[in-house]
Amino acid sequence: MNARDYAIRIVTGDTLATKLEPPPPELAFTDGDAELRIAAPGRPPALQIVPARRSKSGSLHLGPGRQARVPPIAGMRDPAQRARILHALANHELQAIELFAWAVLAYPTAPLPFRRGLVAILADEQRHMAMYIARLETLGTTFGAHPVTGHFWNKLDHLTGPLEFACAMGLTFEHANLDFCGDYAAAARACGDVATAEVLDQVHADEIRHVHFGWVWLRRFTGDTDPWQAYNAHVRPPLGPARARGARLDRDARRRAGIDEAFIDALDAIAPTRPSGQPR
Ligand SMILES: [Fe+2]
Ligand SMILES: [Fe+2]
Repeated sequence: MNARDYAIRIVTGDTLATKLEPPPPELAFTDGDAELRIAAPGRPPALQIVPARRSKSGSLHLGPGRQARVPPIAGMRDPAQRARILHALANHELQAIELFAWAVLAYPTAPLPFRRGLVAILADEQRHMAMYIARLETLGTTFGAHPVTGHFWNKLDHLTGPLEFACAMGLTFEHANLDFCGDYAAAARACGDVATAEVLDQVHADEIRHVHFGWVWLRRFTGDTDPWQAYNAHVRPPLGPARARGARLDRDARRRAGIDEAFIDALDAIAPTRPSGQPR
């Protein structure tokens, strides 16, 4: 199968089974395809993206009556809220699957190793989503039982080219996930849910490689420019360094992702913010 056809299938497919189809090993990458930017993903009815709006208090509400507020990390203690958190994490993975496929279509002239890397990460995101779905089902919920937002899909205008994609996905969203995964794993372990903690550990380990991919391509695309300056020049508000970290900065994970000390120090000096713009 050709990489373009596979990527179209992943983005536009409207069943979870399609989103989970792993890339065939013999996937053929062709050059000279036209740029294709798909505006929105195909989805099963229960996973249609619902527009988010914020209340004055800053909490997130989705549509009339359907609360999409994700419980805070303290909710891990309550299995029902834990399932709700895992539902939100599965939604992040679903969007990651789709957007890595989206990028294959949007950047047909990007270097071949970059495009191959996108597909390799996509396969990891499929495993992550499947693991979260298995956990939330064990906790009595199904994926689609709660409304889902389009947090990543809403940032398409940030994904101008492959460099901006690496900065937004690899060095902002996935970068912050190095901190969130560790915090969620610790919270799951603290309440005795070892199986959930182990899923989060696996996602954390893979995320280190995904951030490494973002870092490597930032360096390749920007040559001798200082990486911190290069990152800041190719990411724009509301994304940026304040969204590339959690409240606690996992320096070790960043070192393992290959990020240099000067970049980590610069990130350490930035106060983290939530998507709402509030301090974290
Ligand atoms: Fe993931
Ligand atoms: Fe990832």
